Order: sequence, then C-alpha cells, then structure tokens
Amino acid sequence: GDQAMYVCLCKGITDHQIRQAVENGACSLKQVSHCLGVARQCGKCASFAKLVIHEAKERQLGTPADLAYALG
Ligand code: FES
Repeated sequence: GDQAMYVCLCKGITDHQIRQAVENGACSLKQVSHCLGVARQCGKCASFAKLVIHEAKERQLGTPADLAYALG
C-alpha cells in the first residue's frame, strides 16, 4: 500500500523518501546516504536500504516508454 515504512530508524528515513531520492537520480546507497543520511549512524539499515533502492530502480526500468504509452 501507500503506507510509509521506516528503513533507517536512526535518521527516521522512510522507504518513500528513498524511492523519491531514486526518482531524483540517486542510484546507489552511497548517493542516497549522501542526500538523506541513511546508514550513517549504526549502519544496520544498509542492506535493507540497498534493497529498497534496487527495487525502486527496477520499477523505473520496468516501465518502458512504449508500455507507458500503451497504458496511457
Ligand atoms: Fe540507519 Fe541506524 S538504522 S543508521
């Protein structure tokens, strides 16, 4: 659903914020960490954050222009 879920508790970062960062062009944990502060404290969220980033990128790639056209 649309409910946000915390990925990084130390910094209070949700999956929505991470997805947004990916939409804005961040494509690695390093970049997301740089702009949001994810995984900068205890680091426990790093692997989950990576997964969310990966998923967000797949989703972007999974909607090719012709499909968007067909659905539009
Ligand atoms: Fe992200 Fe601790 S939960 S740095």
